[in-house]
Amino acid sequence: SGSTSLERETLRFLNPDTVENLANQYGTPTYIYDMATLKASARSALSFPNAFGLTVRYAMKASPNAAILKLFNNLGLHIDASSGYEIQRAMRAGVPASHISLSSQELPSDFDSFVDLGVHINACSISQLQRFGERCPGGKIGLRFNPGVGSGGTGKTNVGGPSSAFGIWHELLPEVKRVVAEHKLQVVRVHTHIGSGSDPAVWQNVAALSLDLVREFPQVETLNLGGGYKVGRMRQEQSTDLAKIGAPVKEKFEDFALETGRKLHLEIEPGTFLVANAGALVCRVQDKTSTSAHTFLKLDAGMTEVLRPSLYGAQHPLVVIPKDRTRADRAASYVVVGHCCESGDLLTPAPGEADTVSERELTSAEIGDLMVVEGSGAYCAGMSTKNYNSFPEAPEVMLAPDGALYLIRRRQTLEQALQNELDLPTSALA
Ligand code: LLP
Repeated sequence: SGSTSLERETLRFLNPDTVENLANQYGTPTYIYDMATLKASARSALSFPNAFGLTVRYAMKASPNAAILKLFNNLGLHIDASSGYEIQRAMRAGVPASHISLSSQELPSDFDSFVDLGVHINACSISQLQRFGERCPGGKIGLRFNPGVGSGGTGKTNVGGPSSAFGIWHELLPEVKRVVAEHKLQVVRVHTHIGSGSDPAVWQNVAALSLDLVREFPQVETLNLGGGYKVGRMRQEQSTDLAKIGAPVKEKFEDFALETGRKLHLEIEPGTFLVANAGALVCRVQDKTSTSAHTFLKLDAGMTEVLRPSLYGAQHPLVVIPKDRTRADRAASYVVVGHCCESGDLLTPAPGEADTVSERELTSAEIGDLMVVEGSGAYCAGMSTKNYNSFPEAPEVMLAPDGALYLIRRRQTLEQALQNELDLPTSALA
């Protein structure tokens, strides 16, 4: 191939020695997170422009390991939980209940006990609001709205607009007000989140629309503008400049204060932005095969560990670490596939389509080489498709600034994967 190595992706926070050490110590596939990058992204989010105060909530669904929750908790981040189970996980990691908010598709059955502990609830539908009112009359509540427009990197990650089930449709305001009055609720927070990988212009527009929703509820103190800030995983992609997208929103908050006398507290709740490029998956090239059309590299990982390419056609950088590091460096083009018996298990999907293959230029690879899937800190371990093809859940390791590797989740055993399976009585099998 005539391509130069300059076009290829490179490692972000790892170096080849660390990749080898990780693979030798913990096997493959293994996720690794970089503490320094996690801290840097948290600091960057904490300096989001704001007029009258800021809370950064980590959308923990992006990567829910307790070590990450503890690290962010220590840095002053709060938590956005998407289920009662996430609330419990955050509390077990030491996050105070008062630092947790819930925006969920289903209210946990025991949500009022979470309310008693101080968890903030955002009602995401009229029926959630109604149930909250019945169980906690006079209580403080947030309202998650679907502001009528959305924006995501793909259709599957857009959660605003008439085709989205997330949040209370903005035109249902009269109904919302009726339920609020019926139960004498105090609406203290308005929440909008329009998608992952949002277009900054749409996000800014929604910030303005959200202020109009705030006008409808005089007790609102906090406006939560969600997450969705795009990060560049591939080298040609840019990460969102938070200072840049936040500046005009800060001005809108200031204008709003001048006009209404209300100084709103800003909340943002990024997931991707905080963790995506702080994580990678280290795996191994298990096989190499060719057809008349393509050469395929087969990994010992795939959609079970990094589902995003198969589900969204997402592109993650792939970096080959040759087992023989003295080997001459050449480029070669490959289709990279995962270890599941599924033609859709691809690490190099055709952009926008999950059922066609496309090649990627990588460092020429041999069976036994290591492969690093970069940008795997968000929605990879968290979304791993538990035990498909009976592969065990991969371990997670934290890389400390001094180079130390800490195991923060063990590799699952087959015993653990099967522990809830029960035998049918012999009579029933007959
Ligand atoms: N807030 C709420 C209410 C959310 O539902 C989400 C993500 C976030 C914040 C954080 O969004 P982020 O900053 O991570 O874009 N699995 C997809 C993303 C789905 C996110 C669902 N909700 C992916 O891999 O890109």
